[in-house]
Amino acid sequence: MLELEKEVNGVVITFFSTASAVGKTLISCNMASELARQGKSVCLVDYDLQFGDVCNYLQLLPKNTIADVQRGFTLQGDACHVEEYLTPYEYRGVLFYVMAAPRKLEEAYNIKTEYAIKVIRQLQLKFDYVIVDTTSMFSVLNLDLLDMSTIVTFLGIVDFIPTIKNMKIGRNTLNELNYDRQKLRLVLNRSNAKTRISIDDVEKLLGEEFYHILPNDFRAASQSIKDGIPLVLKQEHTELGEALRDLVLRYTNQGQMDFEEDDAEEAGESWLSRIFS
Ligand SMILES: Nc1ncnc2c1ncn2[C@@H]1O[C@H](COP(=O)(O)OP(=O)(O)OP(=O)(O)O)[C@@H](O)[C@H]1O
Ligand SMILES: [Mg+2]
Repeated sequence: MLELEKEVNGVVITFFSTASAVGKTLISCNMASELARQGKSVCLVDYDLQFGDVCNYLQLLPKNTIADVQRGFTLQGDACHVEEYLTPYEYRGVLFYVMAAPRKLEEAYNIKTEYAIKVIRQLQLKFDYVIVDTTSMFSVLNLDLLDMSTIVTFLGIVDFIPTIKNMKIGRNTLNELNYDRQKLRLVLNRSNAKTRISIDDVEKLLGEEFYHILPNDFRAASQSIKDGIPLVLKQEHTELGEALRDLVLRYTNQGQMDFEEDDAEEAGESWLSRIFS
């Protein structure tokens, strides 16, 4: 664990979506791994409080969870140190820490937003990066997380019309929050999955191009979960692993320049935009 308090707050990257099973957990585990591989100090926080999967995807058996931290705060107040409740993930010399989701539903139900946010604020003082996995809903906790994040990754997939409708609602709602343009990043996952809906049409509907596109690779994704090893840490080369690394490079400003001036295309007359306009 880090010995010294950092002078600046760490970067908070939150993964959010308006549909479930779009890859929030898989991608947040990979982002934490890749940042740690680059030598950054990283904590991955599982705020899918009721049904968190981070520890399953990484095959971790946490001794403590966010529920224990909340008990700590209630008993000890500010003497409670969040870093004592973390679980390390280590693979081939790459190390990062995980704040696990509660084990029981009733514990998850009783987590107070106030404490959950306090945890992130403490972690920001200790780590270069705090990666937060969330649920797909506009809850009080998620809105507070979005507000305090440095970067919000709004993840989408192009599969069925209702998913796209919800992505549009989500995007519009996030726009209303008036975040800095650089803060909100629209990322498409599973891009080449079989679907009759074109990415172009979806971008026109959303009025914005995707910041980054990740390919569909069911075999690689499920094997990495089965092994408990994120794709970016595997020796085997996969297109998805490469695309995940590129995403992290862009987030750390080592990749191609972010956002061209004219990247926000006006919504055109596609069949999708006619349905939803
Ligand atoms: N690019 C991809 N290609 C193929 N399969 C993928 C890809 N990304 C994620 N998956 C698969 O999709 C499923 C859902 O992924 P994940 O659990 O990360 O989504 P989620 O958004 O966290 O879901 P939830 O909202 O339920 O928490 C997993 O089985 C995962 O292996
Ligand atoms: Mg998840």
